[in-house]
Amino acid sequence: MGGKNKRKRGAERSIHPRNKYSDNPPDFKLLASLYPSFNPYVFYSRDGRPRIDWTDFNATRELTRVLLLHDHGINWWIPDGQLCPTVPNRSNYIHWIEDLLSSDIIPKTRANADVVKGFDIGTGANCIYPLLGASLLGWSFVGSDVTDVALEWAQTNVQNNPHVSKLIEIRKVESNTEIQNDPDEFCSGVIESYHKLPVLLGVVKDGENFDFCMCNPPFFETIEEGGLNPKTSCGGTPAEMVCPGGEQAFISRIIKESVQLKQSFRWYTSMVGRKTNLKTLTSKLREVGVTIVKTTEFVQGQTCRWGLAWSFVPPSTNIAKSRAVNSDLSFMLEGIQRQYSAIDVLQSAESFFSSVGAFCKSDVASFHINIRASKCHCDVILNNGTVDAVEASSCQYEDKASNVSDGSNSLLDDLHFRISVFQQIPGTLLVRGSLQQKENQGKLLLIFQHLERTLRNKFCRGKVSADMS
Ligand SMILES: C[S@@+](CC[C@H](N)C(=O)[O-])C[C@H]1O[C@@H](n2cnc3c(N)ncnc32)[C@H](O)[C@@H]1O
Repeated sequence: MGGKNKRKRGAERSIHPRNKYSDNPPDFKLLASLYPSFNPYVFYSRDGRPRIDWTDFNATRELTRVLLLHDHGINWWIPDGQLCPTVPNRSNYIHWIEDLLSSDIIPKTRANADVVKGFDIGTGANCIYPLLGASLLGWSFVGSDVTDVALEWAQTNVQNNPHVSKLIEIRKVESNTEIQNDPDEFCSGVIESYHKLPVLLGVVKDGENFDFCMCNPPFFETIEEGGLNPKTSCGGTPAEMVCPGGEQAFISRIIKESVQLKQSFRWYTSMVGRKTNLKTLTSKLREVGVTIVKTTEFVQGQTCRWGLAWSFVPPSTNIAKSRAVNSDLSFMLEGIQRQYSAIDVLQSAESFFSSVGAFCKSDVASFHINIRASKCHCDVILNNGTVDAVEASSCQYEDKASNVSDGSNSLLDDLHFRISVFQQIPGTLLVRGSLQQKENQGKLLLIFQHLERTLRNKFCRGKVSADMS
């Protein structure tokens, strides 16, 4: 398990609303009373709350075993020391993929298939994603891995669950595929030093198509780095946790292979443990010409992880049209919670831009805001709102230099646009962005996608937390 990034916001924002545990976290007392094997691991703190020792591998493994059995009807086990998954956290990734698949941003590529088909890169001994995906949603899976212990135990876990076993195939990754050594490869030589095994090429059979792939990659560059969290013990052998170049190298390899496999997968996805890597990987994706990038944040106890998804499938034409008509872009906010009005959405859009220093002038009576954003402001937004000290000072400098107070003396490459909010039906708003100069439409599209994600997360029920490019 990776990502030592401390959680900044409340868990409630990032636990997927369809996650079984979002409203009902595991009840240790109940589980202890029902499963005697779990009972020895439960103790009670002074306030009477049942707890387990998260630093005890046996306790976390037993918790995972009883949760999979109790809530999902899955018989499951892993040998000592193998990576032990946390069921609520792993479920978030499954539900996010469910959202991606149901979104019509890109068309279905296996439209007539009756069962969703996924590929779990590095399924591990625990085989958690295929087991959860098959039992929760009836998806079929190929789960791949490279180590004998992972392959044997994944197979055992599948066979011990006859109700889903027909849906899951465990596939060994063989080194029979030539990894191309591209001299000006975007992901640098570090990948080649990894154990030469592919992740998808040659593992995916000729003519095979999948709705998605997923991956919880080896996050760390060294096992010492992997063992740094003294608060939990989820096990994890070096083969599971470590690869030269860490997760960035591993996911870069998935990206590289996806460029060759293109539309064999509707969605390529991976978990990312570090936000800095998320940014680097997103840039790589733009370089290789994907049609769409989506990201999301998963809260994992005290840490954050991110989901990264991309595709080579051209966006649906109706979506492309609704997003870019002349120099206008728009999106619908559906399922707006009752307590919010169009004014709230307008104000939130304003603070989205003003918080990075962009000039905003709102006209509440006509429900619009005029905005002027410098290149620097746009970069801050596109980097998910983070800005280092140098960038921040250059944003301020640009503002002074361009005398933005009345918006009349702008720098040529500033983005001038208007955001308008229209009530459609109760609970649904249309948010439209209109550019004053057509040539910057691509940039506005990207910014608009960030705005859409922010507004959706804040105002809508159960929507994908994502961005698109
Ligand atoms: C962090 S573990 C993830 C295990 C499981 N999916 C989970 O979420 O707990 C990463 C897994 O990737 C496997 N792996 C490493 N290189 C691989 C490759 N080239 N292809 C497939 N799996 C690989 C490792 O053996 C390990 O089981």
